[in-house]
Amino acid sequence: MDQSQKIGNERIIVTDALPYANGPIHIGHIAGVHLPADIYTRYLQKRGKDVIHICGTDENGVPITLAAEEEKITPKDLVHRYHNMIVNSLEKLGIKFDNFSGTSRVLHHKLAQEVFLKLFHNGYIEPKITEEMYCPNCKRFLSDRYIEGTCPHCGYPHARGDSCESCGSWLEPEELVNPRCKLCKSTPQKKKTEHWYLMLNEFQKNLEKWIQKKKWKKTVKSYLQGWLNEGLKPRPITRDLNWGVPVPLKEASDKVLYVWFDAPLGYISSTIEWAEKIGKPEKWKSYWKNKETKLIHFIGKDNIVFHGIIWPAVLMGIGEYILPDEIPANEFLNLEGQKISTSNNWAVWVHEYLEEFEPDFLRYYLTCIIPETKDSDFKWKEFQDRVNSELINNLGNFVNRTLKFIEKYTEGKIPKPCSFNEEDKKMLERVNSLIIEIEDAIANFQFRRAAMNWMKISATGNRYYDQMKPWILLKENEKRMATTIYLCSHIIHILATIGELFIPFGAKKIYSMLNLEEKEWDKLGEISIPSNHPIGKVRPLFKKVEDEEIEKQIRRLKMSYLSIDDFKEMDLKVGVIKEVDEVPGADKLYKLTVDTGESRTLVAGIKECYTPDELKGKRIVVITNLEPATIMGIRSEGMLLAAIDGDTISIISPDKDVSPGADVS
Ligand code: MF3
Ligand code: ZN
Repeated sequence: MDQSQKIGNERIIVTDALPYANGPIHIGHIAGVHLPADIYTRYLQKRGKDVIHICGTDENGVPITLAAEEEKITPKDLVHRYHNMIVNSLEKLGIKFDNFSGTSRVLHHKLAQEVFLKLFHNGYIEPKITEEMYCPNCKRFLSDRYIEGTCPHCGYPHARGDSCESCGSWLEPEELVNPRCKLCKSTPQKKKTEHWYLMLNEFQKNLEKWIQKKKWKKTVKSYLQGWLNEGLKPRPITRDLNWGVPVPLKEASDKVLYVWFDAPLGYISSTIEWAEKIGKPEKWKSYWKNKETKLIHFIGKDNIVFHGIIWPAVLMGIGEYILPDEIPANEFLNLEGQKISTSNNWAVWVHEYLEEFEPDFLRYYLTCIIPETKDSDFKWKEFQDRVNSELINNLGNFVNRTLKFIEKYTEGKIPKPCSFNEEDKKMLERVNSLIIEIEDAIANFQFRRAAMNWMKISATGNRYYDQMKPWILLKENEKRMATTIYLCSHIIHILATIGELFIPFGAKKIYSMLNLEEKEWDKLGEISIPSNHPIGKVRPLFKKVEDEEIEKQIRRLKMSYLSIDDFKEMDLKVGVIKEVDEVPGADKLYKLTVDTGESRTLVAGIKECYTPDELKGKRIVVITNLEPATIMGIRSEGMLLAAIDGDTISIISPDKDVSPGADVS
């Protein structure tokens, strides 16, 4: 494809799906969204385009309130904590934004409310009284992630009220089979409430026409087509929640907007914030209200329906802004063969990664495995292999051998080249064709292909160096030596300039060793280094990743954690020992009759450390939902907790007179 057609002179807004500020950021976010968006933006900037890269954290809705409840802090504190952590991680990874905002800011609330009202007045939002799922125990409506159940489409038992993580369906709570309250596991009841619905059905025709014309990825188009085929229905865009953007209607003052209604508006509010920051408060309009602007949303596949249907419907309904042009949605990144799971800590967290390794290593390896067409897998061993063999043995080696040669044999200056022979020309042609490949790949969102071809430029340089053997030419043909070394320096200069997209920190290091600035992208292939240019101090580009470092990461990952939910599954209760009986034929066992709110029998191996009198009346802690076991013919209905230290057994006992049956948590 001719990439000049795809990238014209228009303005471009690049956005990344706003990460929820409910936890730190992990490699899945980076590979799926932020890294491709960063590479793309850096590329457009190098080509002199008028592009802004916009993001922020998603700070509203149930994902936030649930996490805040779990961490026992306010949503506000939670958002503050994770916003800062995410900003820090992204910055250290070299993901550059023109603005990074957050959706709990006043500016965003204001915009979201204005948009709601405009849609309301245009007749696209209507109230409806419905029966909703309500937890009688927690006394609240169960929307989105507050409710769990079995997915009606794929049978996954832990689907949430808003979506199924397993098959990706977007759900409504009442569709769940066997629904339960996420927090207390009660079966919900129905209760009347009023909500405001976005009349998606009104947009069916226009969305169809609009989507038809798009040349998006097959996966994206067929997914959206599926939605259109089913027929769009009104969807509720308000929630009974006390955190989020308040619904700007008197009759709904206790409700907030649904997070997926307000979040994409964060792209606009973040741009408004940017315009204010640069002292041109009106400038955002020349992007969002300008038909010449291309709007490009980098997202993960679980976000497709929101960016391809709901969000464009909202934009059509207000009619002031441009619509998305591209939705390069990626599939999912797995980790060592398993789905990334934040609750089970099966993830590589960026802030933890950065304590151990170079940001460039992660950027490069993730670029090589961006899940562009299907799910992909992060493997620590492969990370090590690719970094060591490609970034270090290929690129690092080429840079180092060339520049060291200059340092040693040509007085630290890049020698003046003589005329180019056939081999020189062939090598340059090869490099120039690889540059074109890279441009084409990036224009088509194929970042893996781009990185691969960049690495091929380095391999081409190494091969040329090996063939020319400058260390022999040094004695035999000084002119050829000078030309070879000059051209190798030229290739290094190209590698650094393109390399800024993938390894910006390493690229800077190469510039400083070359003592040169970046090349102008549009003249990338042209010979430009002045003869006898003095280079800077030569240092190794990167340090090899050692086996021990990788083993440490694998150990850390495999160390299994008990999730909070798993822990909550355990039913621990206070019990009072009522009776102690011998177990015939057993020297270590007692049969205990314990009051845990009800009477139960336990068989416990504590006879060597306690007499019956010491035990009677003692308060203990019992796991009551352990599968019953028959020991020496006696059915044991639980287990008491005790510390074991060598031969000593010490029963865990509450230090106050709490009543039998009290919960232990
Ligand atoms: N926070 C959402 C997620 O992580 C993405 C929001 S994208 C936006 O899935 F468009 F709504 F901003
Ligand atoms: Zn409940």
